Amino acid sequence: MMNEKQVIALSGQHSQLLIKVGEAPEICYWGKPVSGDVSQFINALSRPVPYGRLDKDVPMTLSPELARGLFSSPGLEGHRDGKDWAPAFAVIDIDQCADNGLALTAEDTVAGLRLVTELNLDQHDVVKVRHTLINTKAGVYQVNRFANTLPLPERANELMTYYGRWVHEFQTVRQALPQGGYQQENRRGRTSHEHYPALVAGTTHFGEQQGEVWGFHFAWSGNHRLRVDVKADGRRFMQAEAIYLPGEIALAEGESLSTPWLYASYSADGLNGMSHHFHQHVRHSILTNEMKAKTRPIHLNTWEGIYFDHDPAYIEQMASQAAEMGVERFIIDDGWFKGRNGDKAALGDWFLDESKYPNGLAPIIEHVNKLGMEFGLWFEPEMINKDSDLYRSHPEWLLAVEGYEQPTGRNQYALDLSNHDAFEFVLARLDHFLSHYNIAYIKWDMNREIVQPGHQGKASGHQQVELYYQLVDKLRAKHPLVEIESCAAGGGRIDFEVLKRTHRFWASDNNDALERQQIQRGMSYFFPPEVMGSHIGASHCHSTRRRHSINFRGLTALFGHMGIELDPVRECDEEKQGFEKYIQLHKSLRELLHTGKTLRLPADDPAHLIHAVVADDQSQAVVMVAQLAMPTNSLSGTLRLVGLNPDANYQISLVDQPNNFFEGIVSCQPAWCYEGIHLSGEWCDSVGLAMPIMDAESAILIKLEQI
Ligand code: GLA
Repeated sequence: MMNEKQVIALSGQHSQLLIKVGEAPEICYWGKPVSGDVSQFINALSRPVPYGRLDKDVPMTLSPELARGLFSSPGLEGHRDGKDWAPAFAVIDIDQCADNGLALTAEDTVAGLRLVTELNLDQHDVVKVRHTLINTKAGVYQVNRFANTLPLPERANELMTYYGRWVHEFQTVRQALPQGGYQQENRRGRTSHEHYPALVAGTTHFGEQQGEVWGFHFAWSGNHRLRVDVKADGRRFMQAEAIYLPGEIALAEGESLSTPWLYASYSADGLNGMSHHFHQHVRHSILTNEMKAKTRPIHLNTWEGIYFDHDPAYIEQMASQAAEMGVERFIIDDGWFKGRNGDKAALGDWFLDESKYPNGLAPIIEHVNKLGMEFGLWFEPEMINKDSDLYRSHPEWLLAVEGYEQPTGRNQYALDLSNHDAFEFVLARLDHFLSHYNIAYIKWDMNREIVQPGHQGKASGHQQVELYYQLVDKLRAKHPLVEIESCAAGGGRIDFEVLKRTHRFWASDNNDALERQQIQRGMSYFFPPEVMGSHIGASHCHSTRRRHSINFRGLTALFGHMGIELDPVRECDEEKQGFEKYIQLHKSLRELLHTGKTLRLPADDPAHLIHAVVADDQSQAVVMVAQLAMPTNSLSGTLRLVGLNPDANYQISLVDQPNNFFEGIVSCQPAWCYEGIHLSGEWCDSVGLAMPIMDAESAILIKLEQI
């Protein structure tokens, strides 16, 4: 047992953790880096003990324990046949790892449990933490809850949290952190549209550029609970956990259970600073090696173009037109497999529909490849329709609890991945297609929520998620160069654990540029633009019935992993020229967009949303100003461009604007819009440029190049 208290410092570039390890580990400080003799300085934080409560100070440890008198949501709840329910762990070993991390082993010899805590701060200031519990005694240990806990300082008193639904993902809401705290629960069986598993706590009025913030992302693709507790003594902490269904986690002697990873980052520079940390972490530590160096090809996805109406000759025509516009990857979405003529049947029957494709898939793929494009195909591997050959021959493969009815979701059910044969069947079907055809990419969808995750009568919600990870891992091991997009009715399964094994997310089924501006903004807090699938849809948006100009659609899609989602054959020449123009523009900016620093810029007009990407070396930048609604006033103030090199001079030019920008409802726009301007980085940041006048639902693009 560690009797002597030891202070361990984990230091990043812009943040530091000071961890006091005695019997139990306590993070005493998490903020800006401090130097000097911190092991002495830490005594400054020794707390007083108020009257009327326990007679000694009880630290808020990395896994709070009821047995020690911490009246908080405990880090672990479980029992062994009703006993061993109040564990208290004592640290027996500290392993300081080379990667600026710690592995702490703690034991409770009475309860027969060992707890290993891994905590790491990476060079991009992202903390990751998880616990592993090992049952070291005879008898099954039933785990009810097992959480990750990180402290917050008392000055963290505001929150940014997420809510959403299908076609309305990543909506953020600001709220004061109330006494008592905040809690969200996702019980939809996947990461969910409803509660993207992340939140940000910060100091009063924290914003994009200012305030201290502590951001959290819980990397788990199933049910979760996030909470920020404020205790009666003012102390506060963030806790994240996978929700286990009754009885589903039972550890026999020697067995172990790990929590998902909780990722977190502190920034003294507001949300932009925090996002930069997470983006860098994703780029360097989450994305797989093969993907890092590869340029993200422009997509054409057939879904909103033809839906279930597949005719190979017509699809080839679509591909030819796509290639002419500069598309680099052509993806056949839902509708290609046996009996799939609508969304009511055939999921599970992963065999080509030969009535639609009498000559097979190979000629289309060859056609696509000859045009210089990669080919991609849609799957929804974990799903089954009752109207399918698969269900007719294996009704027992359905994920369900026997004896109960369950509602369908999009007319479908989920497959029981815990059933070995079902798992192997899907893996074999995917493997078949990837082995027999030149498929560079699959869109991996998951269109329903999980209602009754049951296997042989027992709850298997946790296992279903773990087996989904295994299914992807096994497929990737066989086909490491095939890229995967994660989609779940749009953005229902977007998290870091998915991203470790995939390459891109379909952010939303909503291609309406106005809606996308907000969805993409919400997503941008944690994800860099290159993993965010962002497509130009038809001018008449399918999910909202709004109409938008090609300018607004093009610039909105520009800042992600860009594609188009429509039938190019049926589009008029003017639209086609527009697609081509924005595809070329994206290609010319792609490297900057996909490697630079994302910044959400301040706007004088609340109807503006301003988004920028600045090159790492600050030599260039692109800025999009989107006018979401009518300008609030007749003039819209100044555009201040932050994040540039204050000592450098930049050539600033307007690169794209709506058709009627110079004549419509203005007599004239600011002079720089006509002829460009040279300005210093310092001027751009402190003073800015006069903002032009724009129509609602339009956007402009500005380019800055260091002179
Ligand atoms: C989901 C996806 C769409 C499309 C359809 C196909 O809704 O989000 O992009 O692939 O399924 O059925």
